[in-house]
Amino acid sequence: MSRRYRSQDWFDNPDFIDMTALYLERFMNYGITPEELRSGKPIIGIAQSGSDISPCNRIHLELAKRVRDGIRDAGGIPMEFPLHPIFENCRRPTAAIDRNLAYLGLVEILHGYPIDAVVLTTGCDKTTPAQLMAAATVDIPAIVLSGGPMLDGWLDGELVGSGAAIWKGRRRLAAGEIDNEKFLQIAAASAPSAGHCNTMGTASTMNAIAEALGMSLTGCAAIPAPYRERGQMAYETGRRIVALAEQDVKPSDILSRDAFLDAIVVNAAIGGSTNAQQHIIAMARHAGVELKLSDWMEYGHDVPLLLNMQPSGKYLGERFHRAGGVPAVMWELHQAGKLRADRPTVTGRSMADNLHGRASVDREMITPFDAPLKTQAGFFVLQGNLFDFAIMKTSVISPEFRARYLSQPGREGVFECRAIVFDGSGDYHARINDPSLDIDEDCILVIRGAGPIGWPGSAEVVNMQPPDALIRRGIKNLPTLGDGRQSGTSDSPSILNASPESAVGGGLAYVRTGDTIRIDLNAGTCDMLVDDAELARRKEQGIPPVPPSQTPWQELYRATVGQMHTGACMELAVEYRGVAATLPRH
Ligand code: FES
Ligand code: MG
Repeated sequence: MSRRYRSQDWFDNPDFIDMTALYLERFMNYGITPEELRSGKPIIGIAQSGSDISPCNRIHLELAKRVRDGIRDAGGIPMEFPLHPIFENCRRPTAAIDRNLAYLGLVEILHGYPIDAVVLTTGCDKTTPAQLMAAATVDIPAIVLSGGPMLDGWLDGELVGSGAAIWKGRRRLAAGEIDNEKFLQIAAASAPSAGHCNTMGTASTMNAIAEALGMSLTGCAAIPAPYRERGQMAYETGRRIVALAEQDVKPSDILSRDAFLDAIVVNAAIGGSTNAQQHIIAMARHAGVELKLSDWMEYGHDVPLLLNMQPSGKYLGERFHRAGGVPAVMWELHQAGKLRADRPTVTGRSMADNLHGRASVDREMITPFDAPLKTQAGFFVLQGNLFDFAIMKTSVISPEFRARYLSQPGREGVFECRAIVFDGSGDYHARINDPSLDIDEDCILVIRGAGPIGWPGSAEVVNMQPPDALIRRGIKNLPTLGDGRQSGTSDSPSILNASPESAVGGGLAYVRTGDTIRIDLNAGTCDMLVDDAELARRKEQGIPPVPPSQTPWQELYRATVGQMHTGACMELAVEYRGVAATLPRH
């Protein structure tokens, strides 16, 4: 044992022998000996994100056993503890409110307990950024172990992807093609095993990004949860974290600006979730890395879509893994000179070394860089008098949508729509089928009150579907716009994450049903065509009402959260970095 670990300040501290006695004694009640704790071996935390109410991550209850084996074999002492649960689909009013809560809880645990290094068990959407944000704040050696996606879903001889099947199913339900029973059958078929979403939704995206950042072992993100390689990866991750503890390799050694720029590039190439925007910014800010809003266009926009996975493509997670997973996508990008791969990773080698020999074996799933599924797959950034920043996921724009809105001769990329404005999702559901709104294909559906403060937490509601009558006529998508988010599994080319939100007086607060909204993808603008005098008059009327907080955390969240374009971070928290270096008082 070469170095003195911070846990020894608890367990091996002659200056505070009474405290050391107190710290040591209770661990014996499950069989740990004082000799183990005083042996100078590193104490390795396992942040356990799995539980009965976080089913996407529940596989980690099993995987942790193999992590422990790896830690013990490499000479560490494992200590597993719970992370505040986050389950995307079930948490009301939205799981987004818990990213910062899980972050906050993990920071306190890693700072206040005798933990020298930590395995972050990730899976469902926000469980990945929450833990990486905390690891960056505390800055002890850390490694990501993804839980992996579910097996591919099948029904009636077709692939059904989780999340994506829901959005497709509700359109078919509205069109009268299926009944409620069939809808539930489709949902069940999309989730055939343990694991997180098997589509390139936010979960697969954020785990891919953790790997792209260099925070997991190579190939970790895409292994399906039930595969034998997943347990083997858990074991190797357990072994590796002990070496990282010994060598004191910290998140601050790995989470560089280059790493985050590569994350933006990888996100585009995999057709990653729009939620990645705020999470990448949040992780970067907690790591002390400056990302500019222009970085999304400068580094991401021109990157082609290389991965043929739903919702941008056809297939699901098992095939992604078999095709080579994240390293195979990154290998293509690296060959094309798109990465800054000469940077350290938790493997102990550079990213470039990790990618060596990782070319894909399945060219339908992962295409060559110069024969991509789509060109310019990165997020498109927009601004104007409705918001300072919003994004559009161009990789999901369908040929029909492109033909209808973006290909008018002489004005390609420019379209004008009549706004139909909803105040939150209750209002949307109550009125979307109201014939007096007269919604047709020249309309844009606008939702506000869905941002971090308005909701609170920022809700996945922007992918609004058209009125049933329109769907029956074959109009499956209308342009949509809002200050909320949308599911990473959605195939809707919405303008979303609009920031600042209406609840803090962003431009969306002043748009009215019937206004013309002009979107210009050449100029990168989105504006309501309302004259200054009228706008001034509307501003005097104030912003739409914001519902009261229902719990103490909601109030605290609202009081501390920033806007989406700065990552919806707890603003005061980004000032803290490297807090493990300041040992708490005895
Ligand atoms: Fe948890 Fe998709 S709902 S991963
Ligand atoms: Mg989601």
